[in-house]
Amino acid sequence: MISPERQTWHCFGCALGGDIFAFLMRYENLEFGEAMRLLAEKAGVDLKFSNSPDYKFSGLLYEINDAATKFFVSKLAEAAVSSAYLKSRGLLDETIHEFEIGWSSNEPEALNLHLLNLGYAPPDIVRAGLAFKSERGFQLDRFRGRLMFPIHNHLGKVVGFTGRILPELDTGQMGKYVNSPETPIFNKSKLLYGFWKSKNAIREANEVFLVEGQMDFLMSYQAGIKNVVASSGTALTAEHLLAMRRLTDQMVINFDSDEAGMAAGERAIDLAQAHDYTVRIVLLGSAKDPAEAIQKDPVSFLKLYKEARPAPEFYFERYLAQFASLSPADLLRASGFKKNLRIVLGKIKNMTSPVEQSGWLRELGRRTGIEENALREEEAKTFGSVPKPELVKENFSLAPAPTTEEIPTRREFLSQHLLAACITANDFSILEESLPHLTPSYVPLVELLKSGVRKSADKKLDELINKIVLQAGQVSGEDMAKLKEFLMQEYLKEKRAELTRALKQAEVSGDEAAMQVALEKLNSLR
Ligand code: CTP
Ligand code: MN
Repeated sequence: MISPERQTWHCFGCALGGDIFAFLMRYENLEFGEAMRLLAEKAGVDLKFSNSPDYKFSGLLYEINDAATKFFVSKLAEAAVSSAYLKSRGLLDETIHEFEIGWSSNEPEALNLHLLNLGYAPPDIVRAGLAFKSERGFQLDRFRGRLMFPIHNHLGKVVGFTGRILPELDTGQMGKYVNSPETPIFNKSKLLYGFWKSKNAIREANEVFLVEGQMDFLMSYQAGIKNVVASSGTALTAEHLLAMRRLTDQMVINFDSDEAGMAAGERAIDLAQAHDYTVRIVLLGSAKDPAEAIQKDPVSFLKLYKEARPAPEFYFERYLAQFASLSPADLLRASGFKKNLRIVLGKIKNMTSPVEQSGWLRELGRRTGIEENALREEEAKTFGSVPKPELVKENFSLAPAPTTEEIPTRREFLSQHLLAACITANDFSILEESLPHLTPSYVPLVELLKSGVRKSADKKLDELINKIVLQAGQVSGEDMAKLKEFLMQEYLKEKRAELTRALKQAEVSGDEAAMQVALEKLNSLR
């Protein structure tokens, strides 16, 4: 619930609350600085970074990348061959539009001239990564004859590009893909392609689908797997993993089917498992990557995705399947077996969760016929393939941080509601007959609230006022009668419990007089 008046919020489910910054940080998974920038922008406030000269330039870099995105998008509309190529890869208009895919024509300085015309200075265009100085001193476009995929940061601002060469123009001399260079706002080891679009779906699905390429991302997204991100061909980093780990600890990985893709996939699995993800793997049949598989047959792909196998099974297959037919005695004599077994044990050791480790050791024992204890000893001697990250530094809890706040009793909760209703009605007389039923510690509050006080220097009291104010408007007139009755019942229940306790105590200590008093009170209560 949100109180515009107090500029605060409170979640009654998890007992978290705070101001507008805390809200955005939780809701959008932002750092404080990011939340501040976003809010400043919404409010039209200019933020000045007094101690970071770098930062003064960043705004300009965002602007230039944004102008370039628009330029490339407009160029795609004019380039029938390029549009046709995107369609031939299976992309729909709405996907092309949603991800602002564009085209950089095969001219040496089309974008550069456009940006100069808009008034940007040549060095700023270079710093934005969109142009470079040739040996002869000309400023030329970095991207030419390429399908342009803008790379957005996690807040949805374009910070760089990756451009795929149009096959007709591919001379084989330049890379199939060219990326923006690192700039103050473009850092590949932090960015995940598409994350700005998919983060809510990742949280909702409690699972992230990790692929390598832009096309893999777009085809997955288009096929309905909205919880997807692409590593953009760079190695997955701890920073990528931490960004996603705030949303989920479940990952499905599908890298290219060739050996390079397998090796990259293996590194990704190891790193993810070391970061406490539970990882599953999609194995494609004959398709070279998810993009191709989805284009061929989206329905079959969705099935493959659903049936993704736990990563350790992938390792069993990759390293041990070749020895499957051997008896335990022959196994140890088979060349390469011990080495591969140790690789697999290293992978298991690499997992963060001891429970998972133990489960997979048992499964390995079942598959190889080797005793679990022997496997455990062997595992102790192997090294995990990735150094374990220090998990303690980051707050990994997916659920909101545990709160020290006590859970209100029903009586307290009803008291809060009733006070809130009085605030809404701006009438505290309705409280009169319920006054004795309120939680006793709330009674002094009545006077405060009545006199219009909505804040307190006492932190605990202020928090309580906050909660009550936030509930105002939630209680309708008709509910009032019920509320009062519930509160009375709750009061009576507590009183009865209290008297029953007193009665028992008196019985135990043989105090006849006290017993009599308690009994009488109980009767009158009834
Ligand atoms: N990549 C890159 N630089 C390259 C090659 C690839 O940055 N020279 C990145 C791109 O982000 C690309 C991803 O790695 O999307 C996957 O590369 P690859 O599998 O080689 O591309 P394909 O999937 O074969 O590309 P396409 O489907 O467009 O042919
Ligand atoms: Mn690929």
